[in-house]
Amino acid sequence: MPHIITKKHNSIQTPSHIDGVFFDFIAHSPKEDKICVRVEAKTFLLTKLEKNGNDLIKLDVTTKVAPIILAKKALHAYIKLSKCEVISSNITIHTTKLEPQKEYLKDINYFVDDFHTSKEICVEVGFGSGRHLLYQAKTNKDKIYIGLEIHTPSIEQVLKQIRIEEIENIYIVNYDARLFLEFIESNSLSQIFVHFPVPWDKKPHRRVMSKEFIDESLRVLKIDGTLELRTDSPLYYEYSKELYESYTQKSTIVKNQSLEVSSKYEDRWKRMGKDIWDLTIYSDTNSPSIKLDTDFIFHVKNRFNFSELQNLFTRKPLVKDGYMVHFTYSFELSDKSGLIHISMGSFNKPFCVYLLVEDKNINYFVSRPVPTSANHKAHKLIESIFESGSFE
Ligand SMILES: C[S@@+](CC[C@H](N)C(=O)[O-])C[C@H]1O[C@@H](n2cnc3c(N)ncnc32)[C@H](O)[C@@H]1O
Repeated sequence: MPHIITKKHNSIQTPSHIDGVFFDFIAHSPKEDKICVRVEAKTFLLTKLEKNGNDLIKLDVTTKVAPIILAKKALHAYIKLSKCEVISSNITIHTTKLEPQKEYLKDINYFVDDFHTSKEICVEVGFGSGRHLLYQAKTNKDKIYIGLEIHTPSIEQVLKQIRIEEIENIYIVNYDARLFLEFIESNSLSQIFVHFPVPWDKKPHRRVMSKEFIDESLRVLKIDGTLELRTDSPLYYEYSKELYESYTQKSTIVKNQSLEVSSKYEDRWKRMGKDIWDLTIYSDTNSPSIKLDTDFIFHVKNRFNFSELQNLFTRKPLVKDGYMVHFTYSFELSDKSGLIHISMGSFNKPFCVYLLVEDKNINYFVSRPVPTSANHKAHKLIESIFESGSFE
C-alpha cells in the first residue's frame, strides 16, 4: 500500500492543487484525518495519522483507488504542497516501466451501469499471475472475460500483459469475487472459473466456494453454463464435492486432467506430484431477474446535527433479518458536515463506504453501494434513521 512517513508537520490548506492533483477537503477525527484527493477524474481519500512521533500518510482502504500510480501521484503532490520532510516511503514512480493498460481496469459500478454486450461472458475468480485468463481471452476473441482479483500487484502485472499482447476482450476488476456475482444479471454468464483458490483450511468461512457462491453462480449462469473449480487441496476438494452433491444440477469430477494452459501454482503442484481435481457444476434452469429498482439516493433530509451523529458510533451493529448497518467512525468537516464510515449489507460480507453529510444532505462518498438486496434494505434503514432522527 503506497505510504509516506514524514516528520510531524502542519496539514495542507484545502481546497488546493498542484501538478494536476486536487486536495478538496480534510475531515478530522481524534485519531486520524481523511484528506480528499482527485487525480485524473478519480476521487479517493488519504489517511493521515501520528505514528511513533512522526506522521504516516497512506491510501484509505475503503475508497482505495486503482491503478496504484494515482495514489503515488497524490502522495508526491502532498509532499510538494506541504513541504514536509519525508523519512521513508514506497512511492517511487518508475517512468521507464511500461504503464499498465488502465482502459481495461473497471470500477465495480461499470458493471452496474454501463456494461452491455451481446458476446458470451466468462468470469475468472482470483486470476493471480493471469496465465489462464490471458490464454482464454487470446484463444476466444469472440468472448468477453472478466477477471476478478483482490491482489493489486497481480492486477498491475496482468494489465501490463494485456497492453503488451494487445488483448481487447478482458476486463479486470479489483473486487471480492464473493460479492461480485450478487448484482450480475441472471442467466448472463457462460463460464465461471475458480482455479486454485486459497484453501483457507483453518478459516473455511473465508473460502470463495460456499453454498451462497454456488447459488449465485447457478443464478447468473445461462442454461448449460458451468462453474469450474480446479484445486490441489484435498480438503477443499472434499468440501466442494460435498457442496456440489447437495445440488440436483449435474456435476462432474475429473482427477489429474491436463488443461491447455497451466498456471504458476499448477506447475509447482505438478512438480511436487500432487493430485489436482476439476469439479464442474452445470446450470440447468433459467433464473428469475433480480433487478432492483433502487438508486441509492437519500430521498430524505438529515435531522441530526453532526455532533448528535456521534451517538451513532457508540451503538453496536444494527443486525436485521439478512442485512445489517454499522456506523463505525466519523470525521468532522465542520459542526454541520463530515464523513461517516459505515459497513452495511450482508452480515458475512459487509460493504464499507462513507456517507458525506453536508448539513441536511446525505450522499454516498465516493461510490454508492452495488445493488444487492441486502444493500438496498440497509440503505432504507439508514434513510429511516436520518429521517426520524432516532436510532430505534
Ligand atoms: C492460490 S492463488 C491462484 C491464482 C491463479 N488462479 C492460479 O491458478 O495461479 C489464489 C488467488 O485468488 C485471489 N483471491 C483470494 N480471494 C479472493 C476473492 N475473494 N476474490 C477475488 N480473488 C481472490 C488471491 O489474491 C490469489 O491471487
